Amino acid sequence: MRQFKNSHPSEPRSIPMDKIWEIKKRVLNDIKPKREDIKAINDISDEIIGMIRKKADEMNLEADVILVGSASRDTWVSNGEKRDIDIFTLFPEKFDEDFLEEKGLLLIEEAMQGWRLEKRYAEHPYAHAFLEREVNGEEMSFEIDLVPCFDVKDPSEIKSAVDRTPYHNRYIKRNIKGKEDEVRILKKFLEILGVYGSDTKTHGFSGYLCELLIIKYGKFEDLLIEASRWKPETYIDLEGHGKYERKEPLIVIDPVDPKRNVAAALSLNNLSIFIDAAREFLKRPDESYFQKREVKIRSEEELLKIFSKRGTHLNALSFKRPLFVEDIIYSQLERTIKGIRRRLEELGFKVMNAYIYADSKDVLLLFEFEVWALPRVKKHLGPKVFDWKGEESFKRKNRDFKIYIEDGRYVADKPRKFTTIEEFLKKEVLKCALGKNVRESIKEGYEILDLDEILEREDARRFLSGIIKGN
Ligand code: UTP
Ligand code: MN
Ligand code: MN
Repeated sequence: MRQFKNSHPSEPRSIPMDKIWEIKKRVLNDIKPKREDIKAINDISDEIIGMIRKKADEMNLEADVILVGSASRDTWVSNGEKRDIDIFTLFPEKFDEDFLEEKGLLLIEEAMQGWRLEKRYAEHPYAHAFLEREVNGEEMSFEIDLVPCFDVKDPSEIKSAVDRTPYHNRYIKRNIKGKEDEVRILKKFLEILGVYGSDTKTHGFSGYLCELLIIKYGKFEDLLIEASRWKPETYIDLEGHGKYERKEPLIVIDPVDPKRNVAAALSLNNLSIFIDAAREFLKRPDESYFQKREVKIRSEEELLKIFSKRGTHLNALSFKRPLFVEDIIYSQLERTIKGIRRRLEELGFKVMNAYIYADSKDVLLLFEFEVWALPRVKKHLGPKVFDWKGEESFKRKNRDFKIYIEDGRYVADKPRKFTTIEEFLKKEVLKCALGKNVRESIKEGYEILDLDEILEREDARRFLSGIIKGN
């Protein structure tokens, strides 16, 4: 047991450290890569690095090829499914960005001929390779990010966002020795909470952020102890060189670029989820924090019952998923759902929850309503009587309606434009602030689904089962 410096009434007086160590040991037993795993990853990356180097020679291109990411830092989590390998090809700074997108990618594609390759887009295009290989009698799948970047002299003067990565790699490799297992535990903890990954869908913790937090606090449990007391705008600056002025929920100055917050993508909500879990875990450590919860898919009847018990109303806007980069689509879908929600609330409807569900083909924007139907009339406020201004035109414009004075103002009971959300969504959804590609997709066609129609879809039932509690 370790004594907790008591500073908050709900802080545990002592933390069951023995229990935490025991849990960590058991979890590591599951997630720590075995020697064969590491060898397989090293063999594959050596093979690919060799192929790209050879091709670069043949094409007379100056390029350096290196393994980066968690495979090179030994901080990856073995989860029995996909294994991620990140290989960067560095080109001299003197080339321009078009070169990187054309020649850089061409080199990778030519070198990888015969492999299953897919072109992907982040800020710049890169290649993603898939590989199935038998390792010690077990079929394993590998996914390899093959990213071209510039070999910049100064990481605070990058030409493309990925140019910092080789610097990150060097920094972590220099500082993480002996703490790799702590990173693995942290990544797994965050993954189970659903807050691991800095992509625009997750808004969570990146692998690099996890590594920096462990470098700062040393141990997983010490990070949790610190995190349980974090306040907004917690500022962590490992190298003491930060020049970051924006206010964000958590600020972790990039050791290789003082102008950058490594935690910029982390949302306030996900940070709060982590802080809450940290406090709970320290009070009552349990292995279940590291185990995936199986979501039981509820039947149509069960979900109908839950929503009828809640007394809310569910509608969804359904349309084709725009064919575009995942990262961009998610931020557009967020803008879209916010835009529609804002308009709905302006009209007087009340949205309790709004969710984005997207698979590779379709999108559902789900709205759960507290108020989904409104009376025909609505109070329309006019000028103040004392102002003696505008009342004539107000009376003229509203002569067909009941006009009266309330709290010193003219008021007219006027009909609303929309009394149901279906009506509004049918007629004016395109007038809302929507993401660009999402707007185009909605323009091509969309449907408004009610609860029954939503629940007919197995994927929607699965999604709702994961978020709606009740029985
Ligand atoms: P990853 O997302 O693979 O993270 O990016 P990671 O640190 O290896 O962690 P896990 O264990 O796989 O989850 C690896 C590095 O490559 C860069 C990232 O910035 C990160 O530093 N990267 C990767 C890109 O910049 N762009 C990409 O498309 C892929
Ligand atoms: Mn990786
Ligand atoms: Mn990767």
